[in-house]
Amino acid sequence: MSSITFTIIKPEILTRQLEGEVVGSIIKGGFKIIALKKTKFSEEQAKRFYAIHSERPFFQGLVKYITSGPVYVAVLEKENAVNDFRLLIGATNPEQAEKNTIRAKYGTNIEQNAIHGSDSDENAIIEGNFFFSHFERY
Ligand code: CMP
Repeated sequence: MSSITFTIIKPEILTRQLEGEVVGSIIKGGFKIIALKKTKFSEEQAKRFYAIHSERPFFQGLVKYITSGPVYVAVLEKENAVNDFRLLIGATNPEQAEKNTIRAKYGTNIEQNAIHGSDSDENAIIEGNFFFSHFERY
């Protein structure tokens, strides 16, 4: 059965005008886009979205970075969406990400790592609801 995951195409990708390549990789990877928009995180949204990391040393930098410019947020559908998307994007640190993954190809460093993917089915729904009031599966 198909399931969903949530993604953020992060600011440095839009700055570098690589969003077309990244969206293309997602579609070629077998994901259907069921919701998509361009937005910009406010500081309040960033702190709330990444609240789980609030005690981590990189939290302040992460909030500053994710609010630094517009992003794309999207809900994606596929069988095994969460796990398959994590395979498609690769490890958090682009230097450690497997060859040909989105982070290996387009990430800059562990903070500016091109793209976010949900880590569980439960968080995919929470994160999708953060930006979309509803999503329909066509
Ligand atoms: P993401 O998958 O969006 O989830 C949390 C984000 O925090 C992560 O991608 C990185 O952008 C960032 N991050 C995680 N670990 C570190 C770290 N050690 N140093 C800096 N940023 C980090």
